[in-house]
Amino acid sequence: MHLFAHFSRFCAGFGGLMSKNIAIFASGNGTNAENIIRYFREKGSACVALVLTNRQNAFVLERAKGLGVPCVWFAKSDWESGELVLSTLREHDIDFVVLAGFLARVPDNILHAYPNKMINIHPSLLPKFGGKGMYGDRVHEAVIASGEKESGITIHYTNEHYDEGGIICQQKCPVLPGDTPEELAQRIHRLEYEYYPKVIEELVEGLSPSYL
Ligand code: GAR
Repeated sequence: MHLFAHFSRFCAGFGGLMSKNIAIFASGNGTNAENIIRYFREKGSACVALVLTNRQNAFVLERAKGLGVPCVWFAKSDWESGELVLSTLREHDIDFVVLAGFLARVPDNILHAYPNKMINIHPSLLPKFGGKGMYGDRVHEAVIASGEKESGITIHYTNEHYDEGGIICQQKCPVLPGDTPEELAQRIHRLEYEYYPKVIEELVEGLSPSYL
């Protein structure tokens, strides 16, 4: 485990002491993580208090550091047992967990500590093109190869199976003739940036998402 920055009461200046603390789990580039951090910083309705990753060189760490958000890498064995990750979430008073391009399995003890308070985003219209090994561009390649006319995003609760928890929100976009995986990924990312922070905000505030 390596904690890159630690600021006690980190969020007090942004959302106030009563605002809920969000942790983001991410494995890669982290554009969604950055978008979510910026959204809550502007709105002040909650605070991204911690970013956690399973990849030591994930670019999301650079983004979090640049934005002054504490971020921490845990080794594979820590993600398998979950103990150290869970105690770190507790130390930072985390109320809600958001997966944003997180590619490891979440251990049961962490899942059980956050019932209905842990959500994931997937870049397809689940149950299509989901499951183990389906992430990022692999999803878009499969969507294009299968000749689908539309794709989209699914925001769902996290459970012990990849991409299978209860669906909270789906938003669609077209798959255009001649689309490359990169072009489709851009269209999907735009949907993610628009909807994911709003859905998180509603759930953190205990509201039913209005984007069903
Ligand atoms: C996002 O498109 C997200 O939906 C996807 O990874 C990308 C991460 O992008 N997640 C999965 O495929 C999960 N199965 P980002 O690192 O730029 O936020």
